[in-house]
Amino acid sequence: MSEDILYDQSHIGFLEELWGEGFLSPGGPEEVERVLDGVDLAGAQVLDIGCGSGAIAVLMVRDHGAAHVTGIDVEEPVCAAARARADAAGLAGKITIDKVTPGPFPYADHSFDVVFSKDSIIHIPDKEALAAEVFRVLKPGGIFAASDWLRAHDGAPSPEMAHYIALEALDFAMASPARYRAALTAAGFVDVALLDRSPWYSQVAAAELEELSGPRRATWEARHGAEFIAHQIETWTAMVPVLRSGEHCPHHIRGRKPS
Ligand SMILES: C[S@@+](CC[C@H](N)C(=O)[O-])C[C@H]1O[C@@H](n2cnc3c(N)ncnc32)[C@H](O)[C@@H]1O
Repeated sequence: MSEDILYDQSHIGFLEELWGEGFLSPGGPEEVERVLDGVDLAGAQVLDIGCGSGAIAVLMVRDHGAAHVTGIDVEEPVCAAARARADAAGLAGKITIDKVTPGPFPYADHSFDVVFSKDSIIHIPDKEALAAEVFRVLKPGGIFAASDWLRAHDGAPSPEMAHYIALEALDFAMASPARYRAALTAAGFVDVALLDRSPWYSQVAAAELEELSGPRRATWEARHGAEFIAHQIETWTAMVPVLRSGEHCPHHIRGRKPS
């Protein structure tokens, strides 16, 4: 049976050009630094859920001194890109990329000091099962530090939000900060904290829309095709207002497994 690839080569190429080589989410190394603020990765065993094309795994080893990063993802093109990136950085011995199927992680209890994730849990509908799995694989005292794309409430999306989600066509399963907090707390996490990043991303996304639709549009079209870029402009045009209203609200998410 053939697998539907959401992050195929054309999508990877477009997102990396917009967001930086090896990044399939916005903000680059600076935003990763903010997600990891105060988390000591030196000598740590780290799990990166939804590692994408691997720039963050490299960063966590090279710049933060993680002993080992296990990156997991569900699609082969991003896993291949992440392995190549780790190889090129000379870090193949410290970065393992595992292609997994959605569901329980193939790791023993208490395997990791830190579980990281950037803008990937949006693709995992069962936030409660995810929180329980993260808790299970963390060592006592371990930290969960993530960023994700949330929505303000779990009720029916506004027509504007529904229109935006339909345009993304990326299997988005967005949930509210309240649902994430409850899922993490029920799993056993303490010091659960959520930080709204929509004020930041609404500004960044508006600049991205201007980059795609302004004077440089022809350059983007030449590289990615006029139809593809027109669809991205339509998506960003729908996204900026729901970011501004706060219905689409990226967050940083933290929790600690008690010692
Ligand atoms: C927006 S990208 C972010 C990638 C990377 N974290 C980054 O910031 O560059 C989301 C990633 O989540 C992956 N993904 C989707 N469903 C997943 C699942 N159930 N488990 C792990 N990763 C998943 C996608 O294949 C994709 O690579």
